[in-house]
Amino acid sequence: MIDQYGRTIEYLRISVTDRCNLRCVYCMPEEGIEQLPHEQILTFDEIERVCRISTELGISKIKLTGGEPLVRKGLPDLLGKIKRIPGIEQVTLTTNGILLKNQLAELMRQGLDAVNISIDTLDETCYHTVTRCGELNQALEGLQAALEYPNLRVKLNCVPTNQSEEEYIRMAEYAKEHPVEVRFIEMMPIGMGKACQGKSRDELLELLEKAFGNAEPYEKHLGNGPAEYVSFSGFQGRIGFISAVSHKFCDSCNRIRLTAEGYLKLCLQYESGIDLRKLLRSGATDEEVKEAMRQAIWKKPACHNFSDERRDEEVGQKKEHRAMYGIGG
Ligand code: GTP
Ligand code: 5AD
Ligand code: SF4
Repeated sequence: MIDQYGRTIEYLRISVTDRCNLRCVYCMPEEGIEQLPHEQILTFDEIERVCRISTELGISKIKLTGGEPLVRKGLPDLLGKIKRIPGIEQVTLTTNGILLKNQLAELMRQGLDAVNISIDTLDETCYHTVTRCGELNQALEGLQAALEYPNLRVKLNCVPTNQSEEEYIRMAEYAKEHPVEVRFIEMMPIGMGKACQGKSRDELLELLEKAFGNAEPYEKHLGNGPAEYVSFSGFQGRIGFISAVSHKFCDSCNRIRLTAEGYLKLCLQYESGIDLRKLLRSGATDEEVKEAMRQAIWKKPACHNFSDERRDEEVGQKKEHRAMYGIGG
């Protein structure tokens, strides 16, 4: 459907769990989190129902995220159920890759269309520092397994924080050597990200152009999200930038989010949305759920503004209090 600013909304990001097997410094506290009790998390049947209803509003692309989506038992089954809903064209996954190797064959059988794997550095020690507990090898095994399926689109997500310049270059080189998009994501001041140093798109592009020569803009779409892509000569994959801080992309925003506890979120930065879980569990009909979603989507905020330091009352919108693991990125 179209929102009040004329944007076509067709992409739903679903966080299936707030749990994660890593503790990335910009996302989770070292000691972990107080996990949501099971009964507060949407069941697979409820998620499937929301997806089915949302197709009637024009949603055709679904992203499964977390926390870490693969820690939720039976995730491939959920993916298959969603994929089989008439009107759903693509179901994709964003994962840290640690559990991917073991689940990939089943995910592929269920119709996975693309996978984004979050690996912030290819240096083992640095990976362990950023994730606080992760074994780089396990994530790389997941990545390797994904590359063995020629029809699966694979992208890498890297959030630059304290990695060295050499590490960014090594990361980008992965796209030279493999048919994989490597995307650099600006640190967003959400949750623990507020206290972390990031790197801007322009700084990174300058660094990469010094190493690989001029980048050419790449105009075609390579997914459903906000990344901007460039090509370097001799590279198999493109380099992407998700620059939510320095280059906003709200005019072309096509997405809404469903949190693990069933809150329909309209913009990453603001709390506004509706408690769908309450509605689903109150005996509402599909038509009532659809109408509530339609009204919420219509009011999707115009824009995020991470550098806006005004109080909520001045902006007229409440800023998000949830952490990234509770939203799904
Ligand atoms: P594809 O383009 O289909 O590959 O997916 P994607 O880039 O939407 O998915 P992914 O889960 O890999 O997200 C990459 C990064 O983009 C994450 O850090 C998200 O938080 C960020 N992102 C996605 N959508 C938005 C958005 O609407 N606003 C902001 N600020 N960030 C977003
Ligand atoms: N800023 C930018 N990206 C973030 N991610 C998690 N927290 C942040 C943040 N504060 C990224 C993860 C993953 C994607 C879903 O979101 O690294 O790649
Ligand atoms: Fe887990 Fe992703 Fe958060 Fe890292 S960024 S702790 S992998 S949810």
